[in-house]
Amino acid sequence: MVQTKIQKIERTVKLKIPVFEYGVIWEDPVSGHKVGCLDATKREDVLKLMGKEKSVLAIQDPPYNVEINDEFGSWPLERYIEWSERWIDNCIEVLDKNASLYIWLGADIRNNFQPLPDFMIMMRKKPLEAKNFITLRKQRGYGTQKNWMAVRQELLYYTKGNPVFNVEAEYTDIPKKTRGYYKEVNGKITENFERSKSSTIRAGNVWFDIQQVFYLLEENVEGCFAQKPLKAIERIMVASSKKGDLVADFFSHSGTTLIAAEKLKRRCFTIDISPTYCKITVARLLHYRRTGKTGWGRLKILNNDKNKILVDDETLLGGRTLFDLT
Ligand SMILES: C[S@@+](CC[C@H](N)C(=O)[O-])C[C@H]1O[C@@H](n2cnc3c(N)ncnc32)[C@H](O)[C@@H]1O
Repeated sequence: MVQTKIQKIERTVKLKIPVFEYGVIWEDPVSGHKVGCLDATKREDVLKLMGKEKSVLAIQDPPYNVEINDEFGSWPLERYIEWSERWIDNCIEVLDKNASLYIWLGADIRNNFQPLPDFMIMMRKKPLEAKNFITLRKQRGYGTQKNWMAVRQELLYYTKGNPVFNVEAEYTDIPKKTRGYYKEVNGKITENFERSKSSTIRAGNVWFDIQQVFYLLEENVEGCFAQKPLKAIERIMVASSKKGDLVADFFSHSGTTLIAAEKLKRRCFTIDISPTYCKITVARLLHYRRTGKTGWGRLKILNNDKNKILVDDETLLGGRTLFDLT
């Protein structure tokens, strides 16, 4: 009886959403994740988050210098690159000797394609190998009748040392249809279906099979303007890490990397400079554990200036379940 009561209290404690302010780090007692309200560009903040641990995978999604600054929109490009270099150096310092780094970024077609090419050039000085340049094809985009619609989202892939790459992660659900590509193997002419390892096609470095997040999807966190699709993060995680590995993300926002890590049994150390996004990140994890849902769908979570959470903690956590009553 006493035991049951203690268990109940422990579970209730675990389900409490922490209060964040700059400097607070929440440590997850269940899966060992960490969420810190910290600044990615500050070395001492990143080292405080990581402790003595190193990550084998970092998935970074910084602001793209379009809406980085509330007052002016974008920064002068040099300032943005200097700012980027600070968090990149912090990231490299906490990567394991064999590790992968993925960075989401954009080229602003309304402003001379900044900051993507400048960022890539800055990265040439870093002790990493540039491995690939992936494009995620969105279903909706922005554009006018006088220009090609902008539907791309860029993803840079770098490695340090010799990290794992699990090619299985690359296979989509799309059946292979095109026959042809004859090639001689051991003196016999073979067709590409005979040679291939799978009946579905590989994503390659243009990912067009991933649904962009929008309000009808369960994973949606309504009001998080820059949320990445869970499927894209899961693809990266399966390709470039193993179960139990530590994954870092310095720009958590809606907490997608953390949810992917929880689903795929990796640990995630993540930060966001905004207490609001830190709170959403932890709430999304606890809500997932309680309900099995990866987001809140159509429920409006944030107000328009992105600083105020519109629902109370109990609503964020989702309805109580039998699990809470045991
Ligand atoms: C593009 S969003 C990340 C989106 C995220 N991948 C997702 O799926 O929800 C960028 C985030 O970086 C955060 N941010 C901006 N400057 C930061 C800094 N210096 N340190 C940590 N986080 C920062 C912002 O608050 C914002 O939530």
